[in-house]
Amino acid sequence: MSSAGNIHNPAMWGGRFAEKTAASVAAFTASIHYDARLYRYDIAGSRAHARMLARQGLISEAEGVLIVQGLELIEQEIEAGNFVFNPELEDIHMNIEKALVEKIGPAGEKLHTARSRNDQVALDVRLYLREECRCLMQLLTELQKAFVVLARKYQQTVMPGYTHLQRAQPVLVAHHLLAYYEMFGRDRERLADALKRINVMPLGAAALAGTGLPIDREFVAKELGFLAVTANSMDTVGDRDHLIEFMSAASLIQIHLSRLSEELVLWTTEEFSFVTLADSFCTGSSIMPQKKNPDIPELIRGKSGRVVGNLMSLLMLLKGLPMTYNRDLQEDKEPLFDTVDTVSQSVAIMTQLLANLTFNEARLAAGLGGGYMTATDLADYLVRKNIPFRQAHAIVGRTVAFCLSQGKELTELSLAELKGFSEVIEDDVFVVLSIAGSVNSRVSLGGTAGSVVAEALKRAEEALGLL
Ligand code: ARG
Repeated sequence: MSSAGNIHNPAMWGGRFAEKTAASVAAFTASIHYDARLYRYDIAGSRAHARMLARQGLISEAEGVLIVQGLELIEQEIEAGNFVFNPELEDIHMNIEKALVEKIGPAGEKLHTARSRNDQVALDVRLYLREECRCLMQLLTELQKAFVVLARKYQQTVMPGYTHLQRAQPVLVAHHLLAYYEMFGRDRERLADALKRINVMPLGAAALAGTGLPIDREFVAKELGFLAVTANSMDTVGDRDHLIEFMSAASLIQIHLSRLSEELVLWTTEEFSFVTLADSFCTGSSIMPQKKNPDIPELIRGKSGRVVGNLMSLLMLLKGLPMTYNRDLQEDKEPLFDTVDTVSQSVAIMTQLLANLTFNEARLAAGLGGGYMTATDLADYLVRKNIPFRQAHAIVGRTVAFCLSQGKELTELSLAELKGFSEVIEDDVFVVLSIAGSVNSRVSLGGTAGSVVAEALKRAEEALGLL
């Protein structure tokens, strides 16, 4: 039997207690039902810690070996589904430590030397988040690839570009898609930046003040693949900044997905019909037999609420917390896990959805007529003929008003009619008023001209290793 606790209170910390913990208190304070998912990181951290303890002579070599072997057995049991998690043992740390003591005896009771659960949980979460952050970065790369593949497929296709959701100027579908390539690229950079501060080793801060025992933090860092160790023990056990940075970056990812989702919901309506989603990526209605609903984008859009909510709850969790570790911090995990799961799943399913989407080119083309989308081109044409832009704007405004009154397109006006609005207009105006002429004139850096988009597409393909 373990010597932890006492006859009154068997908890690992029960020595000073004269009464057993009330069942309601144990249930209220337990975190095992959600922090069990940290088991791999807890075990990896404990293994590195045990090796360090042995190396420093704080435990014997033999004890170190026993501990590492015991931890490996526990890991296998958990993985095989044979490990019984006990809520009375509060959290993943004490569940594993207790199991270790049961397996290997007194050597197991030496594992927690020079360590507190405060720095232990900090380590577990950093190891977990480091891995999830890398996975999410990879998922974003796959998402970017899906955009680039679509952009290549519809490289020449033109669509209406919108401002205020009103038809504005014609753009290439590829240009629109590459806008998302840029957005998700920035998202990945933000994660890479957050990762620099996640990837710092906290163990050795102990409860809050460090330890008098001769530990070697750098060794533990090296064992676990960390590039640096945290600098201040008090900061280390109270710091959740890196979680907030991750959740901010994750919120922005979900918001970007939500904007894309909104477009997909619009574009799949009968009214737009710009795209068709594969049947396998839509669902039906239980009452209306004709329905095919874009549930995936709708759910992704909906989930942005909880992802941003999770960020808010973590910010509020920290507000007003004194130094250093406070039990409040246990509340960091559920929002964090939920954000990791929600955002990772959303990015992955959106990537699949994009691979199962077709643009309806006829509808896009039909969307280009009506709306006077080359009006700016006419103004720019006048500017080239030395008319100040404000005057050109007014001239074209009058021309559009005339077209509206006649029920005509700009391209349907005769040269004589056009000259009525400005003397400088010549025969060369008709190319300028055409959709293709408009798109291909926009050669400014980052513009939608075919030549510029072709370059952008090539750069993206190179960056993603698709060439
Ligand atoms: N379950 C706790 C958490 O997630 C572990 C640390 C507990 N530390 C303590 N001193 N009670 O934060």
